[in-house]
Amino acid sequence: MKTKNVEISLSQAAHRYSVEIGYDLLRNSGSWAKSCLSPGAQKIVIISNAKIFKIYGETVRKSFENAGFEVFVWLMKDGEKYKNLRSFETALAFLSERKLTRNDAVIALGGGVVGDLSGFASSVYLRGIAFLQIPTTLLSMIDSSVGGKTGVNSSFGKNLIGTFHQPNAVLIDVLTLKTLPRRELTAGFCEAVKHGAISNEGLFHQTAGFLNNYKIEKYKTLFSNQGFIENLSDLIHAQVSFKAEIVLNDEREDINRIDSKSRKILNFGHTLGHALEKVTGYKYFKHGEAVGYGILFAAALSKKLDILSKNEVKSLNDVLCKVGGLPETRNIDLKEVVEAFSFDKKTTGKTLQWILLSGIGKPVIVSSREIPQSIIEESLIEVLQK
Ligand SMILES: NC(=O)c1ccc[n+]([C@@H]2O[C@H](COP(=O)([O-])OP(=O)(O)OC[C@H]3O[C@@H](n4cnc5c(N)ncnc54)[C@H](O)[C@@H]3O)[C@@H](O)[C@H]2O)c1
Ligand SMILES: [Zn+2]
Repeated sequence: MKTKNVEISLSQAAHRYSVEIGYDLLRNSGSWAKSCLSPGAQKIVIISNAKIFKIYGETVRKSFENAGFEVFVWLMKDGEKYKNLRSFETALAFLSERKLTRNDAVIALGGGVVGDLSGFASSVYLRGIAFLQIPTTLLSMIDSSVGGKTGVNSSFGKNLIGTFHQPNAVLIDVLTLKTLPRRELTAGFCEAVKHGAISNEGLFHQTAGFLNNYKIEKYKTLFSNQGFIENLSDLIHAQVSFKAEIVLNDEREDINRIDSKSRKILNFGHTLGHALEKVTGYKYFKHGEAVGYGILFAAALSKKLDILSKNEVKSLNDVLCKVGGLPETRNIDLKEVVEAFSFDKKTTGKTLQWILLSGIGKPVIVSSREIPQSIIEESLIEVLQK
């Protein structure tokens, strides 16, 4: 299979990088890195966690060593709760003790947690060193590894401390998805449906078609099927291209923009998603699963406001039925969910802005002042308690 590329050329930072997508690419990750880093790069720190490193780490380490790099490995603990300032400080200490210079580089091998923390550490160490992403979850392939947002969670809130630091390159090996737990795949597909819903009918139908053709429950057995691998790579390529297009248009998420190409639209499905995660103590849902409900809710709201047709709501519901099942929500207290929305409002310092749809591929930003509370409550019941 030929590899596919997405070229990302950022104006503000005068920075250009490439996302390479293909099959069984880890074995040559060292020579790929050699071609993306400055000729003076000698030391490499791979940041990962024990679970991922056990499966893929040695292949990557060997490939980097064969390419002539001096390789060090720092493994963080696995889980969102370790994406914190303490891990960040430990990562910086590791880079400093290994005496990395500004020619050297950090490699993130893992999902969004590893990617966000590694990106943040590499952006401040010596005021910024090179950073390569090797994402290993569907969510990190199509979402977090592209766009340059890095950061950690803290007592102030999730993802509120961080930087914009673009990677020097991204390597997506679709074969790594073979070992991804099923719920993580479902979470990634919810974000893929989100991209489809806000981008254009082409990406929406491609995502829906993929989910129609391949049952998520059986995906592990599908990796021996060449057609599946081609279609999966094509889908990831299309998803990354869409994310790149939005990011290029609005590199730093201008808070005043409310047009349909602003980076804000990537928050489609996220207001309810974040509220559901918060009221369940960030333990019950995978982030993407909560976003799945957020998409259904935004569709229900849009329908009640008469801006989205019944058929389009049905299409969104149908595709989300195929992502592999979302956790039960009947016991969730809706009052707490509504309170969590107002928390979201405080963090933005403005009236809450809902990302809704006036059609597939037609996101609109609507102020909560324009939406009666009764419609919010009816839609919550419809989506969470039916
Ligand atoms: N920077 C951004 O723009 C951006 C965008 C979206 C999300 N995020 C962040 O991404 C994070 C979520 O990322 P995620 O969904 O990748 O979760 P994750 O990084 O926690 O990975 C999910 C789980 O899968 C395991 N895993 C990863 N790859 C595997 C593989 N190939 N085989 C087996 N197990 C594997 C991990 O060890 C972990 O247990 C959140 O912290 C979120 O805030 C950032
Ligand atoms: Zn998300």
